Amino acid sequence: MVNRRNFLSLAALSGVAAACGSRSGERLEPPPGAVMATPLFVPPLLAPPLDGDGARHFELAMQTGRTMILPGQQTPTWGFNGAFLGPTLRAGRGDVIRMTVRNGLPEASTVHWHGIRVPAAMDGGPHQLIQPGAVWNPAWTLDQPATTAWYHPHPHGTTAQHVYRGLAGLFIVDDAEDHGLPAAYGVDDVPLVLQDKEFAADGSFSGDPLRGIYGILGDHMLVNGVWNPRFDVTTQRVRLRILNGAQARMFNLTFADRRRFHVVGNDGGLLGAPVEVDQLVLTPGERAEVVVGFAPGDDVVLRTLDNGVDLAKGDFDLVRFVAATGLKPSPALPAHPATLPAIVPPAGARLRTFALGGRDSINGRPMDMDRIDEVVPAGAVEIWEVDGSGFAHNFHIHEVAFQVLDVNGAAPPAHASGHKDTVYVPVRSKVRLAVQFGRDTDPSSPYMYHCHILRHEDAGMMGQFVIVEPGTESQVPHTLSARPGQQPTPPHH
Ligand code: C2O
Ligand code: CU
Ligand code: CU
Repeated sequence: MVNRRNFLSLAALSGVAAACGSRSGERLEPPPGAVMATPLFVPPLLAPPLDGDGARHFELAMQTGRTMILPGQQTPTWGFNGAFLGPTLRAGRGDVIRMTVRNGLPEASTVHWHGIRVPAAMDGGPHQLIQPGAVWNPAWTLDQPATTAWYHPHPHGTTAQHVYRGLAGLFIVDDAEDHGLPAAYGVDDVPLVLQDKEFAADGSFSGDPLRGIYGILGDHMLVNGVWNPRFDVTTQRVRLRILNGAQARMFNLTFADRRRFHVVGNDGGLLGAPVEVDQLVLTPGERAEVVVGFAPGDDVVLRTLDNGVDLAKGDFDLVRFVAATGLKPSPALPAHPATLPAIVPPAGARLRTFALGGRDSINGRPMDMDRIDEVVPAGAVEIWEVDGSGFAHNFHIHEVAFQVLDVNGAAPPAHASGHKDTVYVPVRSKVRLAVQFGRDTDPSSPYMYHCHILRHEDAGMMGQFVIVEPGTESQVPHTLSARPGQQPTPPHH
C-alpha cells in the first residue's frame, strides 16, 4: 500500500487560475501584476522514518492523472504518488534505502536514480523494466556526499515520452557535515525543476519528443509543474536546488536585473568555495545549487535567455521572486560549503574515447542492450574523452562522480569544477573527464552512459559498461544475451 499522506497533491494548484491570456506560444507582454502570480508549487518531501530493521522505506507509485497547468485546462499527465511529477525523496549518507516502486501506468517503465551511486541491478536503467501492475524493490546503502540528485524513467526508446508526460522528481542526499547553507525546505531551501512543454488547443502536451534533431523545445516553461509561478521570499538569502528536467532545452539562467548569485554545488556535491556568477547554463539532467540574496521588497524574475545555441532557443521567464518588506536573517554565505576530494587520474590512467555520432550513436554504434561496450575495474579513476559532433549534446555517466578536466583544452569555469555526473558537450568540442568509479561489481548488470538529450538517448546515443573485480576484465563476455537475470520483473498480484 502506498501511504496516502505521501500522495503528491496538486489540488492547491488546480484552484488557482493564473490571470494570464493566450497560449498561442507567442511571448506576451501582459498587464503588469497580472502574470507570474500562481504560487510556486513545492514538491512534498518524502523522507520516511527508519523502520524496524533500520532502513528507510520509500513507496513510489507511477500513475496517470490530469493536472491543471494552464488556466481552465486539464492536461493528461503522469506522476509519482500523484498526477504530475513526484515528491522530493530525502535520505542521509549511510541510510539503508528500500524502495517499493509500483507501476500503475499502461506501459512498462523503469525508475532510474540519476546521480545516486547504486549497485547496477538497482540502478533502474533499461534492464530493470517494471511491467504494468508490477512492483520493483531495489535496496542499497546510500554512501555519497550531500547532493541534489533526481529520479526518472529510463525504458529504452520511451524515456523521452515518459519524462515528458511528467515522471520526474528530486532526490536529496544529506550527510553529517554542516554546510552552512539555508536548509528550511520550501522556505529558504527551494527546489526548482525546470521543464519546457508544448500544449495543444485542448490542453494536452503536444509535440513528438522524438522529432527533428533535438526533440521538443517547448514554448511554455514550467517550474515544479507550474506555469508563470511566483515564489514569496521571506529570508535574506535563498538556496535554490535547480534541476534541468527538460527533454532537450538548455537553460541559460539569469535574473532580469542581472543580479549576481553564488553557485555552491554541482551535480555530484557541494563546491569547495562559492563562485559568484550572473549567469548559469544547465543542460538536461544537470543540477546546480545556488544561493541568491534578496533585499526587502525585491520583485525579480529568473529567466532563461537565448544564447545562440540551438538548445537555448528563445527568451522566457521562469519564476518570479517577490520579497517581503521584512526579511528574516540568513546565515552568511559559507566560505567552504564542502570539501570533496579532487578526482585525480593516476599516471597512466586508462583513457577511453567516446565519439558522439549525429543524433543516435556513440563510436559508430547505436545502443544495444545485449552489448557491453566497456569493462571497468572497480574503484578505477579513468579519463573519458567525449568528442562532440555537429550537433549539441551532453554526456551523463551512471554510478560515477567525475570532474571536468578540460573542454577543448581549457579548464572549466570554477562554478562547474565540482563533482558532476552530466556535462555539456558543445558542437564539435572535446570534453575530457576525470571519472571516479565505484566499488560495486556485477559483470552481468550494466550501467549506462549517454547523451541526456532524451531524443538522442532514445535513438541510441547510449552505451553500457560494467564494473568488475580488478584483474577480471578480460574474462567478461561482451554480450549479455542468454544470460539469466535479465528478464523483466514478473507481474505481481
Ligand atoms: Cu538521467 Cu541515464 O539518466
Ligand atoms: Cu543517471
Ligand atoms: Cu545528444
